[in-house]
Parts: sequence; C-alpha cells; structure tokens
Amino acid sequence: MVAPPSIQSLASALLPVLAAATAVHPHQPRQAIITEDAFFYGQSPPVYPTPETSGLGDWAAAYEKAHALVSQMTLEEKANLTVGYPPPNRCSGVTGSAMRVGFPGFCTTGAGNGIRQTDFVNGWPAAISIGASFNKNLTYLRAVQMGGEFRAKGSSLAGGPVVGPLGRMERHGRNWESFSNDPYLAGEMAALTVRGIQEQGVQAMTKHFIGYEQQSHRLAANNISAVSSNIDDRTMHEIYLWPFASAVHAGTASVMCSYNKLNNSGSCQNSKALNGILKGELGFQGWVISDWGAQDSGVASAMAGLDVAMPSSKYWGAKGEILAEAVRNGSVSAERITDMATRIVAGWYHLGQDQGYPELGVGMPISFTEPREIVYARDPKSKPVLLSGAIESNVLVKNINNALPLKKPKLLSIFGYDAPAPAAQNTPFQRPEFIKNNGWIWGATGVNISSYNDILYGRESLPGISLGGTLITGGGSGATAPAYISSPFEAIAQQAYEDDTSLFWDFQSIKPAVNSGSDACLVFINAYAGEGVDRPYLHDDYSDALVKNVAANCSNTIVTIHNAGVRLIDQWIDNPNVTAVIFGHLPGQDSGRGLAQILYGKVSPSGKLPYTVAKNESDYAAPNPDLGEGQYEMYPQSDFSEGLFYDYRHFDKEGLKPRFEFGFGLSYTTFAYSDLSIESITQDAPRFPPKMPIKQGGNPALWEPLVKVTATVHNTGPVEGAEAAQLYVGVPGHDSPVRQLRGFEKATIPVGGKVTMEFVLTRRDLSAWNVEAQDWELRKGKYKIYVGGSSRDLPLDGVVRF
Ligand code: NOJ
Repeated sequence: MVAPPSIQSLASALLPVLAAATAVHPHQPRQAIITEDAFFYGQSPPVYPTPETSGLGDWAAAYEKAHALVSQMTLEEKANLTVGYPPPNRCSGVTGSAMRVGFPGFCTTGAGNGIRQTDFVNGWPAAISIGASFNKNLTYLRAVQMGGEFRAKGSSLAGGPVVGPLGRMERHGRNWESFSNDPYLAGEMAALTVRGIQEQGVQAMTKHFIGYEQQSHRLAANNISAVSSNIDDRTMHEIYLWPFASAVHAGTASVMCSYNKLNNSGSCQNSKALNGILKGELGFQGWVISDWGAQDSGVASAMAGLDVAMPSSKYWGAKGEILAEAVRNGSVSAERITDMATRIVAGWYHLGQDQGYPELGVGMPISFTEPREIVYARDPKSKPVLLSGAIESNVLVKNINNALPLKKPKLLSIFGYDAPAPAAQNTPFQRPEFIKNNGWIWGATGVNISSYNDILYGRESLPGISLGGTLITGGGSGATAPAYISSPFEAIAQQAYEDDTSLFWDFQSIKPAVNSGSDACLVFINAYAGEGVDRPYLHDDYSDALVKNVAANCSNTIVTIHNAGVRLIDQWIDNPNVTAVIFGHLPGQDSGRGLAQILYGKVSPSGKLPYTVAKNESDYAAPNPDLGEGQYEMYPQSDFSEGLFYDYRHFDKEGLKPRFEFGFGLSYTTFAYSDLSIESITQDAPRFPPKMPIKQGGNPALWEPLVKVTATVHNTGPVEGAEAAQLYVGVPGHDSPVRQLRGFEKATIPVGGKVTMEFVLTRRDLSAWNVEAQDWELRKGKYKIYVGGSSRDLPLDGVVRF
C-alpha cells in the first residue's frame, strides 16, 4: 500500500529543509531556521508509510483472525480502539473497545517490577536487582510469576520490561527500572522477561522507545519543549536499540514510545524510529502505545506509526472521532487506521486473550472499603523466586578481616534509617508506593522530593534518600505494592534469637553512640530515585557522615546500601574500619530475609555490579541531565556525543580505573577459570548477513550462531557458591570499544566442583553497525574473546578470525 499523496508530497517537500537542519549542530546558533518546521521536526528523516503486515512468523494466525474481526468494524469503531479512556478501576489506563464485535479493549497497569495500586500481589525485586543477579533462570521465573499476577488481576498488559532508560546518565531517576546500562545484559533480561510474562497470556509492553535518558525536561512544560536526545545511527543500533531489538525478537506484543524527542522529532511521532526502525527494520508485529501524555500531534503521529494514544487523546478525540474525520477527509489513509486496529486486535489474539481471560481490572477496584470481589493473585510458587531475587540482588564489594559472614556474634549494633520497615501504613487506601517510596513525583523538571517526605513522615528529610524506612523499590509508576516487608532489622532480629545475639539499635541519630562491646556495627543507608525527577547527586553527605561517624568508633563497620542506581562510596570505602560493603539495590518485599542469608553465610553472595562504580562522578562519560541553558533553554538538546563510550566502554577506552568495575562482585569462595575453547560454527561467514525473509526481531540471520565458546569454572574455595561467568568480545577496529559483554552464564558450584560454561555468539553479537551499508557487518580481522569474573578480571582470552 502507499501513503496518500498528501503525506508523501509533504515528506519530499520537507527533505531539503531536513537536510539543512541535519547540517546544523544542535549547539550552534539556530536563529536562521527557528521559524521553520524543520527546527521542530528536523534531523530525524521522514519514513513513510507505516509497514503493513499480515503477520510474520508465528503472528500469522493472530493476523488472520484480526483481519477478519477488523473487517467487521466501522471506521468509528476502529478509531475508538486507538484512544484511552478514564479507567473505572485501578488500571493505569484502559483502551477503547468494539463491543459490538466482541473486542473489549485492554487494561494496562504496573511496570516491569510487578503490578501496583492494588492488594494481594507481591512486591518484586526491581529490574536493577535482576540485572545484578546475572541469573537468567531467575529472570525468567520472576517474569512467569509476575505475569500470573497481572493476569489474575485482569490486566491485559504488563507495563514492562523497561530497557529505556538504559542508564547512559548515572543520575537518571529511572535507571533502576531497567536491568543494566549494558545493552547486552539489558537485552537478554528483557527477552526472558517478555517470554515469561507472555507465556501467561499477558502482553509485554517494552518501554520507553527510545533515547529516554533523563527525567529533566522529559515533558514539555512552561513553554519549554521536551528534551531531544540526539543519537547517531551507529550508537542507536549498537547501544540504545539493541535491548529493544532483543525484546522484539522475543515477541513483545507492545512497545511504548517515550516522552522525549529523538533527533528533534517527538518519539511518538518519529516516523524514522517507529515506521523505519521498529516496524520496518525490526519487523515489529505488535502495536505502539504512547506514554501517558506523550502524543504531540494528530495526523503526524498516526502516519508516523503510533497506534494507541494514552491515557486519552485530545488530538484523535475522546472516542477517536477526530482521527476518524482525518480518515474521511484523506489526511490519514484508510489503510493506516485499519493497520492500527489490526495490530491492536492481533496482540489480543496472539496472546490468546480472546479465550477465558479474566474480566479487565477485576482485581483492581477503585475502592478497597466497599464490598467487592476479592482476587488473590499471589501464587505460593512465587516464594522461592522472591527470595532468590532478594538474595542475588546483593553485590558484596568489600570484605576484609573476615567481617562476613557473621559468626554467632554476641552483640550487633544496627544503625541507619534504612534498617527498619517504614513506620507509615501499608494500605491500598492510599497508593502503596506513596507510603513506601517517599512520593510520586510528576513533572517535567527536577523537583526536590523532600516535601513529599515531610508530608508522609512529618519529619525532616533530605533529597536523594528515603529516611522513612528500608527502600525496597524506587518511586513512581515502576513502584510495587508489597504484600509485606521483611526489613533488614526484622530479619537480623530473628537470627539474633537463634544465635543468642544481643542487639543495640539507633535508626535516627547521625552520630549514634557505639557500644564498645559490639562485634560488628551494621549500617543501613539508601539512595532513592523515582519517576519524574533526576537524582540530585550520586552520594549524599548525610549518609556518608553516618557511615563515617559509626566507623570512627567501631572497627568492624559493615555497610549495606539500598541503591536505586549507581551510588558512589569514595568518601569512606578506604576507611579500614569499614570492613564490608554491600550494594543491596532494590530487593523487593523479601529484602531483609534475603540479606540475612548473605550476612549469616547461609548463601554465598553471587550478585555482580550491572554498572561501573566510579571513584568520582566526573569520571563518567555522560554529563548531568541537560537542563537546556542559554539560547537552547526553550529547546533542550542532549547530544549523545560520547557515542558508544559510556560506562565500562568509556573507562576501558580512557584507561580510567574505576572504584569497582562493571561485572564485579565478591563471594565467600573463590573460582578459577581454565580450558577456554573457541569453536567457529560457520566457516567463511559472509561479511553481511544473508537477506532472509524478515521476522519479528529483524533479519533472522542476525541470530544465527557463529561461534561457540566454552570455559571451565572451578570452585577452589571453602564453601559452595554461584559464579556469574562473563564473556566479552573485542570487535576489530579502533572505533569499537575495547570489549563488550556478549555472554554470561551463572551456575552454583559445590566445593571443589567444576562446571563447563557454554556461550554461543550470534552474528549480531559479533557485528558492528555499518552506517553506509545500513546493515550489521562482520568485520574482517581478529576478534578478541575474553572470559572471566568481571569486565576487568578476565583470566582467559583467545581469538577468533573472520
Ligand atoms: C508514565 C510512565 O512514564 C510510564 O512508564 C507508565 O507506564 C505510565 N505513566 C502509566 O503509569
């Protein structure tokens, strides 16, 4: 099908202007073109029309049914499917229905960390904790159990997984919602999450597409436009698109476009991103949903590939009537609106939601005080998964003088605001995340969260930390609704009973008195982050002072940080009285129970850092959130000029020493690596992937296995432990990172035991994006292969040639 002449001629008329705009660097004066549309829509090239589909691969059956159903719909009914309605329940949003032909629309809720705003559900470890686990099986099982909860509660969609933000900027308030700032790790975890959720018949909604790398200016407000993420083509493919491609390949039924602009064109009306890359190059068969309020235009967003506007649409009309009129007058093609409706309905059929799906929103009533049908969504099979998540969330980064594990101490002193459960209520009368996370902050620019703390806890608070109790999740739409909270203090108290340990505690003082008889002093601090605001800093003076004050009087100070993102610790990490440090991340409702297993050595720690911990914030590559200064204050621009080189790729390139490198984490045992074997599966692989019929995920040839690597990991230490072995690849060429994660496997190994880890490298894993060829290129030359326990501890290396 072709786009109506009006759109095509508009696109070609714009081309010269777009080319001119592309030539202008965003930080050079722009007055000359400021009145042109190209200033607002420039740089991102036009790609029309939206690819129509009859269902590639395993989507064919769903499309056949969808075509049949949509062919019975009137124009008004099709248009009605594309807009959101105010939910009559606690769904985050509901989409329009066509009840005459039996299509009920969708309920969407929650995020990648579980369902929220309701009762009888679990508070799961956040994605950052799952990234830290490096555990594929755990990732999958968590998604299976979360998916079951979404289904039971009548949510057609889970609002995750999140792979954008990826975490380019350490201060981003939502980095904790995604698994890691490494695209490969994030992509693997996202793919497993999509599979686990969708196996329960729930549609995954992979978000936020794309370049959503700061909260500041995420939305237009006060005559200031939303920030534009300006990303070059190679960086787009190798970094930001990579995990989305993994999720699309895994079959995600839905993708959410983001608030920010991409190359100066709104992400929800960016035809290059939606028509060109997502639905074209990646062959995405599902439907695109806007983030809440991210739709910026009517005709343009429809033609650029947006399928559903949430939570309602002023551009398409409350019932889609403006969109229907645009079809009638030829501004939007009839084919496009049919494609929109077909994609939406195909998602429903593809997941089997037409058969026996619970009533939409059934377990999420508006009122919890009125009589209602109670829906218990918690499955007892969740218990071991929740606990494993809370254990493997912890990354031990320092352990001297045999500080850990604890050995039946006589006296433990426990300090810090993060040790107990929040004293405020846990009740669905108020949004649970309000209580747990110090607030829900909406807004285009950063606001200080302390006012929310003040309201909730009635006491002085500080931005960037949650003084109200232990932090088990971040804040905003990714926050969870825990069934209970096992706090560190409560879990330690239980073990104290078993061990006849006495406990002293002070959760309030910044300079607590230390009992000189303490065997150890456990200090609990956190680093809060939430939607709508970027973090004010990567460490805070209040918590640092608390640690230093305790350490001044306690020679065995053990620090646990519940961190919603990177947290710097150079203020005290070298203090010899700080004997052990754990990055606990956001472990979910079993936080304390999981941590106690580590503290008391029932399980050896096995989490690894899913990001680099720098010595100083200035060591990181990406700047702080761009707040749009000077002449650009009305049109904030964020140039991703570091390209591929952020986090460990940047540290490796610049030869910088991090405090703790990506992939690092200690154990109570030791592992030795040996017997590297590298085997080419395919000889004489061509430079570019053979052109195969496209499937969801793009050219299937990109997933063809080219190399098999095996290595042996030997537990040489005193206790059983799990090791996350990592494989890194150095692609030939000085323009490529020194090495990039391209494989990881985790296994529990008994004392003295050996396990052979196997890594399969696909064509995509070994290729670089060639901008001229617009394809993935297997470069000629020597590929370095490294295997080891972290990005800087790589005892095995070898070479494979193409
Ligand atoms: C806005 C958030 O950015 C998005 O992640 C979420 O899914 C929606 N609100 C709905 O809660």
